[in-house]
Amino acid sequence: MLRQTLCYIAGALFPVAGLAAANDVITIATPATSMVISAPVGGEFRLLHYGGRLTDSDVGSIAASGHKMQAYPVYGMECPAEAALAVTHADGNMTLKMVVDTCNTTRSDESSLTRIRLRDEIYPFFVDLFYRSYDDHDVIESWVEISHQEDSPVELRRYASAYLPVRRGDVWLCHLHGSGNNESQLAQESLEDSPGMKTISSSHTINISHASHGEVMFALDGKPRENEGRVVGAALCYGGNYRLDVNTVDDEYHHFFAGMNWTDAPYRLTRGEALRTPAVAFVYSEDGTSGVSRVYHRWARDHKLAHGDRTRPVLLNSWEGVYMDVEQATMEKMMDDIAALGGDLFVMDDGWFGSKYQRDDSSALGDWTVDRRKLPGGIEGLLDAASRRGLDFGIWVEPEMVNSRSELYERHPDWVLVPQGRQPATGRGGTQMVLDLTNPEVRDYVAGVFDSIVGKYPAIKYVKWDANMPVRNHGSLYLGPDCQSHLWVEYQRGLEEVCRRVRDKYPDLIMQLCCSGGGRVNYGMLPWFDEFWTSDNTDALQRVYIQWGTSYFFPAIAMACHISAAPNLQTFRSIPMKYRVDVAMSGRLGVEIHPEKMTAQEKEFCRNAISEYKKLSDVIQMGDLYRLQSPYDGKGLASLMYVSPEKDEAVFYWYKTEHFCNQHLPVVRMAGLDAGKYYKIREINRIDSQPLECEGKVYSGKYLMGHGLDFPYNHILPYWEQLDYASRVIHLTEADGTEVNVASK
Ligand code: DGJ
Repeated sequence: MLRQTLCYIAGALFPVAGLAAANDVITIATPATSMVISAPVGGEFRLLHYGGRLTDSDVGSIAASGHKMQAYPVYGMECPAEAALAVTHADGNMTLKMVVDTCNTTRSDESSLTRIRLRDEIYPFFVDLFYRSYDDHDVIESWVEISHQEDSPVELRRYASAYLPVRRGDVWLCHLHGSGNNESQLAQESLEDSPGMKTISSSHTINISHASHGEVMFALDGKPRENEGRVVGAALCYGGNYRLDVNTVDDEYHHFFAGMNWTDAPYRLTRGEALRTPAVAFVYSEDGTSGVSRVYHRWARDHKLAHGDRTRPVLLNSWEGVYMDVEQATMEKMMDDIAALGGDLFVMDDGWFGSKYQRDDSSALGDWTVDRRKLPGGIEGLLDAASRRGLDFGIWVEPEMVNSRSELYERHPDWVLVPQGRQPATGRGGTQMVLDLTNPEVRDYVAGVFDSIVGKYPAIKYVKWDANMPVRNHGSLYLGPDCQSHLWVEYQRGLEEVCRRVRDKYPDLIMQLCCSGGGRVNYGMLPWFDEFWTSDNTDALQRVYIQWGTSYFFPAIAMACHISAAPNLQTFRSIPMKYRVDVAMSGRLGVEIHPEKMTAQEKEFCRNAISEYKKLSDVIQMGDLYRLQSPYDGKGLASLMYVSPEKDEAVFYWYKTEHFCNQHLPVVRMAGLDAGKYYKIREINRIDSQPLECEGKVYSGKYLMGHGLDFPYNHILPYWEQLDYASRVIHLTEADGTEVNVASK
């Protein structure tokens, strides 16, 4: 009989070969997944399985037969592909050979934590590998702590958080790439067709999810399907530079490594210091890519988002309405309008601050005092105005940044990131720079920005934290000459410290994470934030694609989606209000338009939509996402739905993404419903002059999932009012017995 330590790692990716010491097998488990490892003291640390949950009998058989894979390959000796860790000892030796030293597992309320300590055979050099498995979520987080007791510093040349071998077959990689205004574009590619090294990375910190994302999925059964097939997800929980490598050489595995980006960042580890890497959150599901997304979403709401258990307020943000032309009268006008639309919160965006220098693209960042020329009543005046209208009030800041045209820079020119002896490269407005958060004085200043705003005006309920420049200057005047290559690690440490301080002090504040749109969407930063600004691109058609990609890893409750003007201010496309509202309603709904520019009819439409949204927000924000028809498949259609955990209610979305005469669109089959239940159909936001044929009718979950509902391809409107866009939002509620009988007569 095997002695198994009850905790679980993940797996079915590889069978493993004959383990002599069977009682060193550890199973790390979540409700539906297992990771099985072998950790014989004095022997090698091996990964035996990650995938579906195994029986004890299968664990025993796997442990006694099959192949063994290294669980954390290190450089220098018997390292077949790439290495997770590579170091240079002070004597010039570039190798490691690690053996298991100790193992233990501890419990907390909601998870188990397994720690495997490895030591080098001859150097006093250690790697502690951690695996946290959740009791209620199929998530296993994995990270390492690297330390040593050598007399002189050891240089870490690479330092991944985790490694996973993925068994070859028909494996596809799903990942997100893009740019500002075009975030989270979904890419899916066969790994079998492209041997070699694939690297996904960020190298300028801050806007790390603009060009690509530190989260990926591996579909193990061929071209990814949304609701079927085995899929492994890997999300690096880090807000700084990352590096993910998939190396396909001539063996049976795709070798996956994830962690901080070690390129141009060797780390000089001193004796007794521990470098802790960020966690990689692994998920395994047999319900396709949507199945993996659902696990991430639930886990995010329970563990990785601020206030993940509270539905979000409907807000109006002033940015696209007035840009920096903030004034008391305009702010009040916008407050009137969002109050009339039934919203809860007004957010004053950029433009409100600056004393010696008035805020514009190139001035005043860093001078967080209200500009009384624009806002004579100050923040107090705005808070009063909001409160008179029954609204909460929120404000924009960009606390990590400074303009050279600012009082802050005049006082502290040495507080910016800049290499010794050079003129700093600048960003927005030709004057923007990043503050040096490696410097504790600067961290105090940035944390203090919150005291001077939220501390001084506790009635402020919401802060939008923006960051509009990556680090363009690799250099810190604070870090010593030996530690310049630590900049990426130290900047992130400094930022995390500030976030922690702010959150500890202002736990109830709603905070939005923004980075020129969705440049900072990751599970390293999100724990301090309630939500993120998905993209500065608010064009509803392009948002269908952006939101689809983003939903691979991040839940609707955190995805801010705002109704904006037509023509759109980024794409200049004119999209009807109905479509704009329907798209924004699939995430955290808000408004980003000067309501003055809306017709009375549009306002009425939005008022009704907001009122409907508030009734549905539990299902949308807390429900389970089923992606149904991908816009990336080129079928002219996108469709998704949210289903309540009890499967008694759902919200279904249907968006046409192309418009042609005599086009042919597929019927979308629903998913996630209870086949045995009946559901009544009600269209939300209807503009058609007659109801849908399915309106008010009752269908079984079996029918809706097996056949789906057919919709007219265009809205049914008088000839001159017809539209070039079509969308549907359908509310499904479980029908009671009477309704089912009536329907079947
Ligand atoms: C970039 C953000 O993404 C916008 O929403 C807005 O807040 C501007 N910055 C303000 O400068």
